[in-house]
Amino acid sequence: MRQAGRYMPEYQALKAQYSFLEICRKPEIAAKATMDAFNYLRPDAAIIFSDIMIPALAMGLELDFAPGPKLNRAIQTHDDVVSLKRPEPAKDLDFVMNAIQLTRAQLPSSASLIGFVGAPLTLAAYLAEGAPSKNWVGFKETLYDRQSAFEALLERCVEAVTKHALAQVEAGCDAIQLFDTNAGMLHPLELERFALASAGDVIAALREKVDVPIIYFARNVGAHLETVGARTKADVLGIDWSLQMRSAADRLQSHAVMGNLDPTVLFASEDVVEKRTLALLEEMKGRPGHIFNLGHGVLPKTPPPNARKIIETIRSFHSVEE
Ligand code: CP3
Repeated sequence: MRQAGRYMPEYQALKAQYSFLEICRKPEIAAKATMDAFNYLRPDAAIIFSDIMIPALAMGLELDFAPGPKLNRAIQTHDDVVSLKRPEPAKDLDFVMNAIQLTRAQLPSSASLIGFVGAPLTLAAYLAEGAPSKNWVGFKETLYDRQSAFEALLERCVEAVTKHALAQVEAGCDAIQLFDTNAGMLHPLELERFALASAGDVIAALREKVDVPIIYFARNVGAHLETVGARTKADVLGIDWSLQMRSAADRLQSHAVMGNLDPTVLFASEDVVEKRTLALLEEMKGRPGHIFNLGHGVLPKTPPPNARKIIETIRSFHSVEE
């Protein structure tokens, strides 16, 4: 997650020349951001360079990053929802699809390219709030107080992210990840009714049209993992670093699992990075369907050699095992 993030000098060099949104909108530069990280780390899969908020542009909103996403207006009432444009990502967001084609052409055929969207609840939370927030009161107030407006907004988000994900697969992505960063801030009743139901709708709609693995990552939903698996029916569930990976996997028999090294381990010495990577590999030994990953994104200021150390450690562990 966040392979191409702000911790790499190659990315800093791009940022000295272009804003984040400019990088997203210039397919050659977006592909370079992905490929610089891929070439340094050599993982099994690369993630496209974009952001979960990009579909807001196709819904007729103005978007800026400072560095978090900021909209020109928040969507909190029925009239706000009705004013949103029906997105046509293949046309409105053609720069994303062009970046995917360029990246796919540069990646070795053995590497997978992951496309992504925000899950509907998380996109709706950002649209209702207008920007990231500490307590997300604008989002919660809309959800609790203007429930029919919030439901209408969620429906528009289901439409926007389904279309955007489909366009990404058509452009050459081998898998789709839904990020539901905000799901875990809901009460269990709202988690199921709003976050899991809408993510499940997107996943079901994608399955009707394309045959790629679908990954669902929600943060802070450890108490409800079985429900998350059953309601979303994702092929792969991302697990955050608050859980013991093996017991999370045991609770999700029929799903592959992805995760879950604590991203702050990468600030420790190389020795600790290696030990914690090996410990996780040992813990998951014999459990088919484990995709090694961090339990959330790579943080700014992470030393790049430690990110590479994880991948080298996994490769030598598996070559000894074989
Ligand atoms: O590996 C990659 O870098 C791939 C691209 C990627 C970005 N954002 C680029 C980005 C991905 C997969 C995302 C997902 C994303 N974006 C999520 C879900 C994952 C998660 O972290 O929970 C969320 C909630 C967002 C929204 C967002 N975009 C925030 C909150 C921020 C600012 C704070 C932060 O964590 O960086 C962004 C900006 C952003 N998106 C940057 C990057 C590289 C930093 C921009 C900069 O360089 O200034």
